[in-house]
Amino acid sequence: MSGLSDLEDLLGPDAFGYFAGGAGAELTLRDNLAAWERYAFHPKVLVDVGVRDLSTTLLGRERAHPVVVAPMAYQRHAHETGELGMAAAAAATDSLMVLSSQTTTSLPEVAAASGESDRWFQLYVFKERSVSLDLVAQAREHGYEALVLTVDFPVAGWRERGSGFRVTHPLALNPSGAPLTTEQLFGMHDPTLTWDDLGAFAEAADLPLLVKGVLRPDDAVRAVDAGVAGIVVSNHGGRQLDTTLAGVDALVPVVDAVGDAVDLLVDGGVTRGWDVAKALALGADAVLVGRHVLWGLARGGPAGAEAVLRQLVEEFDTTLALLGCPNARDLDRSYVSRFPERKNVPPHG
Ligand code: LAC
Repeated sequence: MSGLSDLEDLLGPDAFGYFAGGAGAELTLRDNLAAWERYAFHPKVLVDVGVRDLSTTLLGRERAHPVVVAPMAYQRHAHETGELGMAAAAAATDSLMVLSSQTTTSLPEVAAASGESDRWFQLYVFKERSVSLDLVAQAREHGYEALVLTVDFPVAGWRERGSGFRVTHPLALNPSGAPLTTEQLFGMHDPTLTWDDLGAFAEAADLPLLVKGVLRPDDAVRAVDAGVAGIVVSNHGGRQLDTTLAGVDALVPVVDAVGDAVDLLVDGGVTRGWDVAKALALGADAVLVGRHVLWGLARGGPAGAEAVLRQLVEEFDTTLALLGCPNARDLDRSYVSRFPERKNVPPHG
């Protein structure tokens, strides 16, 4: 992959392969990036855009803007500051952060680094249910506002990069930090989880529950019927089943099926503020940003992650101005359409 070779040097081939890689032939990994280019803008002119409002509402609370840090595992393998560095970057940019169950920093430490900033906790359900329930109890105790239950990982995707990667930092699953392969770690996920289990976690947590990894409208309806507070439309960064739909392509049918019943977030390949605007125009309330901000952390620590988040928010602001839509909440489908089919024009020269 072009443009990431410095990261391979920084992280080493194994950790780099783990973070950068996707499932199978990585068609979905690449399509997640390409998908945003398939939507074209229809800007309005001569609108007063002197004052812009980037805010959105999630779980009934106003958030400064719709850029959310996605849950990502093992961040100390991307940069020595790990999740603490990411939490500091999120706090500095008023970004909501979702902490991974596979965090290499404890929940109270990340809570302390987040200060007053909003944070959610991503949950994997392990065969050893007590491990998940203990994480849930810690999340509640340390002020995590919601649980994001990842539902697209009964087993790990078929991945062909990063096979030499070993997690050597302590984890809730492995407090000693004795090196573990991802195969060992992912073997702890419970592949028998069903809709019937959702309620138990929401109840144990006494926190709003979102499900992450929904791509089908019928599953979205089922999630709403099960009482979730939100849905993350996601293909897990192209890391699970290759050739699944891109998140943004799956979003529209989900919006059509569930409307405003719950909060809708989308992820996959978000690297630009105009991607964020497209997601909102198509009906999302917020977007999760994964590798793009992880690369910022890897390259520049907390300041690097902060710069990435800041640029995304500034690009989003510029996009609102140039769309003639000063209020992010007024973005709707009139501002986007599928990009007209490109004619096969031979290049110049
Ligand atoms: C992954 C998990 C841990 O995609 O979310 O590797």
